[in-house]
Amino acid sequence: ELASGLTGEGRMAEPENIMRFIESDLLVSLPLSGIEVLVNAGPTYEAIDPVRFIGNRSSGKTGIALADEFASRGATVTLVLGPSSHQPKNKSVNVIHVESAQEMFDATVNSFANVDVAVLTAAVADYKPSHPSHEKIKKSDEELSLKLTKTKDILGHLGQIKSKQCLVGFALETNNATEYAIQKLNKKNLDMVVVNTTNASNPAFGSDYNEVSVIDKHNKITKFEFKSKLEIAKDLVNHICSYIGK
Ligand code: CTP
Repeated sequence: ELASGLTGEGRMAEPENIMRFIESDLLVSLPLSGIEVLVNAGPTYEAIDPVRFIGNRSSGKTGIALADEFASRGATVTLVLGPSSHQPKNKSVNVIHVESAQEMFDATVNSFANVDVAVLTAAVADYKPSHPSHEKIKKSDEELSLKLTKTKDILGHLGQIKSKQCLVGFALETNNATEYAIQKLNKKNLDMVVVNTTNASNPAFGSDYNEVSVIDKHNKITKFEFKSKLEIAKDLVNHICSYIGK
């Protein structure tokens, strides 16, 4: 019976049946259905005291765009996201919010075991204050020195424990980009490294645009043009898919 009083086909299907159809018919036909992907993104904040921190200018945009792009192709995506004012658009992305390098380490490592692909875009602080103050530090006329301790290298750790996962790192350099990126690729046992150069003509951090190249573990270099981070995410997902045979 329809709302008009007539009887016949036209009534909306039950929402549960529509959902079942989407899940069992539409989503499984997407190319990355059944593939699990882990992405981390954004900066980290390392506490100096309860109100101050050491951070960096990362916006998280590239990692968020990658998470959205993987999800739109049917992958199951976990995004470990540092303090960023941006969010993925795709509601299926499982976002784990973190703040410090240690929290980023814990969440990324805990999510790694069962994934097929891990892409670490986060700008993780390399150092943190050794003794963060529990109270707000008052100013005085004395010089203030901060003692810093090295944080854990998340990507390096995943490179040591990885088994079947395709592990992708990022390298942000101001000079000798290819040389330094190849060193990171080998030292951290990566499948590929995405190289960004930050300089006056390509600030990379915070911008909506970037120019990247990818170096894989066979030292094959693929250069991409200067384009939006959304388009870069598509290029990178295409590149990773062909690397893993998808
Ligand atoms: N990275 C990480 N954990 C850290 C530092 C970096 O997982 N504590 C990862 C980043 O997410 C990125 C890659 O390592 O994928 C390279 O980061 P980058 O800052 O370019 O290099 P570093 O290894 O920190 O070395 P350096 O700062 O000396 O260039």
